[in-house]
Amino acid sequence: MEQDFLPINGTDHIEFYVGNAKQAALYYQHCFGYELIAYAGPETGVKGKASYVLKQDKIRLVLTSSLSPDSAISEHVKKHGDGVKVLALWVDDATKSFKETTVRGAEPAMEPQTIKDEHGEVVMSAIKTYGETWHTFVERKNYKGAFLPGYKAVKSSLKVEPIGLKYVDHCVGNVELGQMNKWVNFYEEVMGFKLLITFDDKDISTEYSALMSKVVSNGNGYIKFPINEPAEGKKKSQIEEYLDFYHSAGVQHIAIATDDIIHTVSELRRRGVEFLYVPETYYDDVLDRVGEINEDLEALKEQNILIDRDEEGYLLQIFTKPVQDRPTLFFEIIERNGAKSFGKGNFKALFESIEREQELRGNL
Ligand code: FE2
Repeated sequence: MEQDFLPINGTDHIEFYVGNAKQAALYYQHCFGYELIAYAGPETGVKGKASYVLKQDKIRLVLTSSLSPDSAISEHVKKHGDGVKVLALWVDDATKSFKETTVRGAEPAMEPQTIKDEHGEVVMSAIKTYGETWHTFVERKNYKGAFLPGYKAVKSSLKVEPIGLKYVDHCVGNVELGQMNKWVNFYEEVMGFKLLITFDDKDISTEYSALMSKVVSNGNGYIKFPINEPAEGKKKSQIEEYLDFYHSAGVQHIAIATDDIIHTVSELRRRGVEFLYVPETYYDDVLDRVGEINEDLEALKEQNILIDRDEEGYLLQIFTKPVQDRPTLFFEIIERNGAKSFGKGNFKALFESIEREQELRGNL
């Protein structure tokens, strides 16, 4: 077997650039049950920005805001609104990861650098991917602090109740018309990923709009990046709507795994998170399509959770509405019962649901 030139242990963290990190941090703590674990800002000797680190099981989110109008963070927020800046990857050697990818054509974003504090040292480097998104490589085997040097350990000021979010299952990118294969090639050639699945516009179309998607995955399968591009339809593709409002390619959704989706989703709803809606008729014949499942269908119906099956098992999934005013980033909650796919059987019902929302926004 050929050697994996970019071994990745998992997702290290996801960093968002947002208009008001202090308030966003409270939203993710209250609604999604993330614990505040670390902070960096003027009080910790970091000038010009504030970052809040949130954690639930294996997931770490970083919310960063600028304190001045003329910073790269402010420019990012001005152009894209709140959105994902960094999909950070946990590696054993951030210097080698940088060399292996840049020698294969990756555009450098940050040369390898070692940062230290009293808890040890971390080596970090970064490369650019679609839009203005970065992949940061984080080597943390010699570090014992709360997050990274420069951050101090802090605690949530409210009582946080976790809701069973476990790990990042996949992160989806939306790219411009005609750019999907370019980025699939980037992941294959520059990062050594493999093409896992292809969906063409016949798989993913409704009466009105269409998209195409290819899923790439790293050597151990821990990292999965579906890449979407719009396809020609009667009306505007949801991917085009995203691109119009994000003003570039970018991260469309982050799928988070849970072991008990009924509990997770009922808690999210109770705390005010809004989801896309599929009509009740979806449930009339869903079991004919997916066969036997362990969960009570009524409970799934009550939470409007979607079901799909592949050769290896079934999965349960649901999608939030966009989590900021622009119709850009949203979250997926997914529970896998053997299935390794992405819910192809739900695409049509789901996209009709997205189109109802697009119509309301006047963007269909
Ligand atoms: Fe997904």
